[in-house]
Amino acid sequence: MAQQVDAVEQPVLVVKSGGEAAFAEWQACFAVHSPGLTLRHWDDPELRLEAVTYAVLWDPTPGRLAQMPNLRLVFGSGAGVDNVVADPDYPRHIPLVRTSIPEATDRMGEYCCWAALSLLKDARRMAIAQGERRWDYFEPPFRACERTVGIMGLGNMGERSAIMLQGLGFPTIGWSRTRKAVPGVESHAGAAELDAFLARTDILICLLPATAETHNIIGAANLAKLPRGAGYIGAGRGMQQDLDAILAALDSGQLSGAVLDVFEPEPLPAEHPLWAHPKAIVTAHVASLPSRMERVAFIAATIAGFERGAPLPNLFDHARGY
Ligand code: NAP
Ligand code: GLV
Repeated sequence: MAQQVDAVEQPVLVVKSGGEAAFAEWQACFAVHSPGLTLRHWDDPELRLEAVTYAVLWDPTPGRLAQMPNLRLVFGSGAGVDNVVADPDYPRHIPLVRTSIPEATDRMGEYCCWAALSLLKDARRMAIAQGERRWDYFEPPFRACERTVGIMGLGNMGERSAIMLQGLGFPTIGWSRTRKAVPGVESHAGAAELDAFLARTDILICLLPATAETHNIIGAANLAKLPRGAGYIGAGRGMQQDLDAILAALDSGQLSGAVLDVFEPEPLPAEHPLWAHPKAIVTAHVASLPSRMERVAFIAATIAGFERGAPLPNLFDHARGY
């Protein structure tokens, strides 16, 4: 009994993110930002579930959180927490905070700028030619100011990406569930405005969360609504993309190129035709990965605020699904 009282009084944070190899780095980061906190690894055989007050998670073992009676607050170690709420026994009364922080949105903006410029300049064609030691002179037809970038999902990631893309000269428009007022970005809202948004989009970027509504949203029907020769950048979640439809659109010329960071399943199987496709760039879910120190600074400050009774940032909403 005395042991349990101690446990509740001394906050214990359990980590499952980055594997056991990353745990020492999490410890070093928390030692800087929250030295009073005791850290335990999710798979630590000595972990007493009743001692856990906080959790930082990616892909937790289903059912385990529900066995932590003193759990008070959960953090997804990324911005998307679909991997956390995939647990059918997720204890929904425990607030879940997404680590969608400025250091992550900057990185996503950088990825989208790199990917949009890669499509504009046909970087894939250049890389293939270089690999073959072949002098491949060609004239990319457009300037950035002539290609409208349409961003699906104008949340933390989408808004920052839109602003950074504008800095490169791309006109930017956005599509979200509710209307937005992002400077310089024309806002389209809801299912009724999706077709008009797609019709105006030369480079489509998907930065939506994984929800029932966004499943396979990048499929044949919506790809056909883009202007012929559009580009596609996928950095939301793999479940949003019908890869067969993307391949067909690349082969038919409906898409002129694609940059894909997310897949279902991950890793993309080695035999998948996208790996070698001459119009596709594949990256390994690396679009936005803030450092552990950056994430811990946010998590530690959020825990300190929570203990003072401050409102929580980036709260996951179970009803909306994101
Ligand atoms: P967020 O702030 O919650 O933004 C989500 C946006 O999507 C919001 O604008 C929301 O509309 C919109 N949305 C959601 N459902 C919609 C629907 N059915 N129709 C139209 N719009 C819809 O999330 P975030 O922090 O920007 O992160 C977005 C996603 O990016 C994450 O969930 C994750 O999947 C992905 N991500 C990927 C990486 C990577 O490395 N590849 C890194 C970080 C994040 P409202 O604004 O109207 O609510
Ligand atoms: C990465 O995919 C994240 O959700 O942060």
